[in-house]
Order: sequence, then structure tokens, then C-alpha cells
Amino acid sequence: MSQWSKDRRGRGLTISFVPTMGFLHEGHLSLMREAKRRCDLTVVSIFVNPTQFGPQEDFDAYPRDLNRDLKMAESAGADLVFTPERNDLYPEGFDTFLVQEKLPGHLCGLSRPGHFRGVLTIVAKLFHIVNPHAAVFGEKDYQQLAVIRRMAKDLHFDITIVGYPIVREPDGLAMSSRNVRLSAGQRTAAACLYQSLVNARQMVADGETDPEKILSAAAALINAQPEAEIDYIKICDPGTLDDVSSIGCPVVMAVAVKIGRTRLIDNMILSP
Ligand code: PAF
Repeated sequence: MSQWSKDRRGRGLTISFVPTMGFLHEGHLSLMREAKRRCDLTVVSIFVNPTQFGPQEDFDAYPRDLNRDLKMAESAGADLVFTPERNDLYPEGFDTFLVQEKLPGHLCGLSRPGHFRGVLTIVAKLFHIVNPHAAVFGEKDYQQLAVIRRMAKDLHFDITIVGYPIVREPDGLAMSSRNVRLSAGQRTAAACLYQSLVNARQMVADGETDPEKILSAAAALINAQPEAEIDYIKICDPGTLDDVSSIGCPVVMAVAVKIGRTRLIDNMILSP
């Protein structure tokens, strides 16, 4: 991979990069098309990164289908798909991790301790190996994007970090590899995440400035689904991710909900 990249760079070509954990869907393909639009060549990585899953999380159950993924990546114009094995990236004796101090102390970082340590470590490693000019990430993982932007800046990665808008199913559910694990009933119920965000956006547009009122309305919408269990619903400063006490400028509302055994996240900017 490194040699390929070095060779293409040497020929004056630019490289964009879309890191994924596979089981690709239309959301990933949109990231690839955006990557393709930005640079001469597009690299996609597929690696289900064990270090970003907690011991009770779904690493083993995470959906995988490499042959299907390769065809989809090709159809979206990927020039190279990098598919390292666990031992390539975490060989015997591996002992160095990247930790960020502030941003991971919010949202998913609280319910998934160690998650962003794993994400940052693997993304930094992939950045070194792939050595792209630009890397594209989905805005569905709002906190992940913020954490990666911070890391790229703090560690002087000469890589443009691009965020790409959430791609949604017709009923508004944000596309995710985990959606395939929902039963038909759960799949219908899962639209409550989006509905709670749209309702919040409307409340703010109508002049509501109290986050508590918006959060209560969102909780009521989600709790109306018997299989839904709220992990968090937060209204935060889009830069620091700190909770806001009043909405006077654009804020981000982020939700994480378990539907059955599947944990889903979503977010939306709310602008007064
Ligand atoms: O967003 C993902 O799919 C993963 O967190 C990433 C960025 C590929 C790192 O494993």
C-alpha cells in the first residue's frame, strides 16, 4: 500500500482516502464519489478495527462481506481497496495508542470507553500507510469526525479532512452497516431517531431556546417505541461538544439509541 502511494505521488498524482469497516452501503459510496471528485486516485480501506470495540460490543457480530464490498467499491470508482489483516496492523507486541483529552469525554466517548482511543490509533496508522492528500468521513459519526480533525491538526498530518453529509433511507434513518441487523419491526421503529431530530429542528426554528424542552420532546418520541432504549440525547456546542444551556446560535443535537441489540447514532444541526 505504501509503495503504491509513494509511486503515485512521485508521478504527481493526488490521492484521496475513505477508511471504512466494510459492509458498504450507499453512504460509503457517496464518500467514495466525493473522494473521487477531490483527487486523481481514490483509496478505500476495509478493516474491522478490533481496538475500537469494547469487550461487550459487537466486534464479532459486525457484518462482513468482502466480495460484495470489493464490487461496490469498484462501482463507485475506487482505484485501490486496502484490506489489511489484523496481524498486519496489530502484530504481536503492539503497544502504542493515541489518546485525546477533551472531545472523547462526551457523547459516545462516555458510553464507549476506549472507543476513540481505538479510532484515533487506527486512523493515524492508516494515514501513515496510505499517505493521502485528503480523507473523507461521514458526518453521521459527528464526534468521530471532530476527534479526527483535532488529531490531524494536533499531529500535523498534511491531510485535508473532509466531512460528508449523512445519507438517509427514504424514512430518514441514517444509513449504517448496522441497519441490516434490525428486524422488520425494529427497522420501522428506528425511524424515531430521525423523527426526534426533525422535531427538534422545527422547535428551534419556531423559536424554542430551552434545550431541556427539546430533549424531553425527543425522549418522548423515542420512548414511544417499545424496543428503543436511549443511550443519550444531547444538545451541544458543535465545536467543543459541551452541553449548551440555551440555544442562541447553531448547535448540534446528537442521539444514540439501542433498538433491540443494535446501537444506532444520528445527529443534526439545529439553527435558531
Ligand atoms: O467510521 C468507521 O467506519 C471507523 O470508525 C473507521 C473510521 C474506519 C476507523 O476504524
